[in-house]
Amino acid sequence: MSDKPTFYITTPIYYPSDNLHIGHAYTTVAADTMARYKKMRGYDAYFLTGSDEHGQKIQRRAAAANMQPKEFVDQIIKSFKELWKILQVENDDFIRTTDAHHEKYAQELFQQIYEQGDIYKSEYEGWYCTSCETFFTELQVGEEHVCPDCGKPAELMKEESYFFRMSKYADRWLKFIEENPDFIQPESRRNEMVNFVKQGLEDLCVSRTTFDWGIKVPFDEKHVIYVWFDALINYISALKKDDNSLYEKFWPADVHLVGKDIIRFHTIIWPIMLMAAGLPLPKHVLGHGWVLLGDGKMSKSKGNVVDPVILCDRYGSDAIRYFQKREMQYGQDCTYSEANLALRINNDLANDYGNLLSRTTGMLEKFQEGLVLAPSAGTDFDADLIQLAKDTPAAFAALMDKMEWANALAELWKLVGKANKYIDDVAPWALNKEGKKEELATVLYNMVEVLRMVTVMVAPVMPSLLPKVWAQLGISERDDLASWESLKWGLFPAGTKINRGEPLFPRIDIDAIKAQMEAAAAEAAQEEAAPAEPEPEIEPLAEECVYDDFAKVDLRVVKVLECIKVPKADKLLQFKLEMGGEERTVLSGIAKFYQPEELVGKKLILVANLAPRKIRGIESKGMLLSAAIGDKLQVIEAPDMPTGSRVC
Ligand code: ME8
Ligand code: MG
Repeated sequence: MSDKPTFYITTPIYYPSDNLHIGHAYTTVAADTMARYKKMRGYDAYFLTGSDEHGQKIQRRAAAANMQPKEFVDQIIKSFKELWKILQVENDDFIRTTDAHHEKYAQELFQQIYEQGDIYKSEYEGWYCTSCETFFTELQVGEEHVCPDCGKPAELMKEESYFFRMSKYADRWLKFIEENPDFIQPESRRNEMVNFVKQGLEDLCVSRTTFDWGIKVPFDEKHVIYVWFDALINYISALKKDDNSLYEKFWPADVHLVGKDIIRFHTIIWPIMLMAAGLPLPKHVLGHGWVLLGDGKMSKSKGNVVDPVILCDRYGSDAIRYFQKREMQYGQDCTYSEANLALRINNDLANDYGNLLSRTTGMLEKFQEGLVLAPSAGTDFDADLIQLAKDTPAAFAALMDKMEWANALAELWKLVGKANKYIDDVAPWALNKEGKKEELATVLYNMVEVLRMVTVMVAPVMPSLLPKVWAQLGISERDDLASWESLKWGLFPAGTKINRGEPLFPRIDIDAIKAQMEAAAAEAAQEEAAPAEPEPEIEPLAEECVYDDFAKVDLRVVKVLECIKVPKADKLLQFKLEMGGEERTVLSGIAKFYQPEELVGKKLILVANLAPRKIRGIESKGMLLSAAIGDKLQVIEAPDMPTGSRVC
């Protein structure tokens, strides 16, 4: 076994329900940066990301796409993995909660906590937000019954459930936080969580029965494990793939990196699950802020591109990665706009860093035929620059270790700025003119050496930059000059011949981007202003009926086996339906709205006990239900229910 120190960092596992946007990419790129940095610092670092694939939200999305949940998530996971590749994310593992080793371990843990009495059966009655997969109290959803987190309507739930005895652990949790004040970061989030727990903890509902896309409760197969309880376990199950060796090496995790919206799950529920299971707790949970997109949400109408694939294609993934780390202050939100992105690229990358590189290589070519010569006699300005270059690695590292990426990069860019100022102060062109060859050689050497050191330090943020710069500086073979240990002044080999190349960060035409954004916004505004189609009129309600009348109607789920047009009848479709093993023929006047083949295989709702009727010589046994208004119509479906199910 190696005696390297270890570092285990995780991102949340993402819901494979939508495409990921620049906000999601923030977390994963941050974790990747950190893992690369730690590897460079000699750690045996392990970086985990993955996907959270169970639950009602995914099941519904899949049904809406007319797919099986697994088939549905498979295609989205493919796009996740492609995105991570484009963003140069080098995760050591990708866990899927549908992986067999995850399901097995989740069940073991559930069973263990149940057997020791911390999971018990009762009934849940309350509110649920499917979008956030979160339970809420009456008070939290308010009179409007909307999710306090995302604002979407919450659903009233009443079902038999298993509960996790969280309430029992409130005091232990508070004591743990007191003893480990840096567990929750930043501090403001810790205070929020402490206040939350001080108000008392309720037991958590940890199983569901009204759908089945989840991991089965091992001792009660009617239930599936609540998706969050299932998901949090990934951080350990991923380490239990083949044997226990990864677990022994890497658990407890050093950092769970998460967005502030899910900090409660990671700092209260997860630690209490671990306490109950008698397992060690992670060392830190860092809750970063939100990348605000337009007016607080994804907003195409602002002309803002938020698709990271498009942005990487347009600006390169190094630049996107740099922007994200530089722009978001520790723990705070930041507002994303493409104009801000372009501004950062122009100022920090094209001007500051890019100019340093092109001035250095340009002058080496012009004055020394591309040769880096050994330093000798210097100028009055050298000492300051060299001192800052010597001090920067420690200052940079201190901030990186605290995961203050924006500050770390700002610190590093002080050195870039200093080097550019140094060039202006010493004026190498004047030294050349005056024939001060030794001074000139020293100045150019100092410029190269600063460039080398900055590039090494920024490599975890912009991984593909270093090889390009090494090629330009003529040291492609010298990996030893790219290590953390090489951050000592004066290691650049004198006598090296450089190969000047293209600018690495071309300037972006910000006016063009602004114009593009304005055009998109104008187009969106025009769409909004366009006269809407008149709302179709709602039919008046039918006369009141008593429950017994309604109860006479027997509605059932049926599956469409065949569907054809009835010859010479514009409106009629003829169906062969299957219902709990029985087949029957039904006619329906919906030919205007559907092509017959669209409906084959669908599960629809039939008025099953309607007296048979002959239409055009065909006997129709029942009537299919649709919703209709104005000239719109849609059949009612029950895609996940077995045929013969009663609709009530
Ligand atoms: O929450 N800015 O998954 P998810 C910054 N499956 N971060 C953002 C963001 C934005 N605009 N939008 C999303 C889940 N995120 C669960 C996690 S972990 C056991 C289970 C971040 O796909 C968000 O804060 O909804 C979260 O950290 C991550 O993306 C995943 O969000
Ligand atoms: Mg979310």
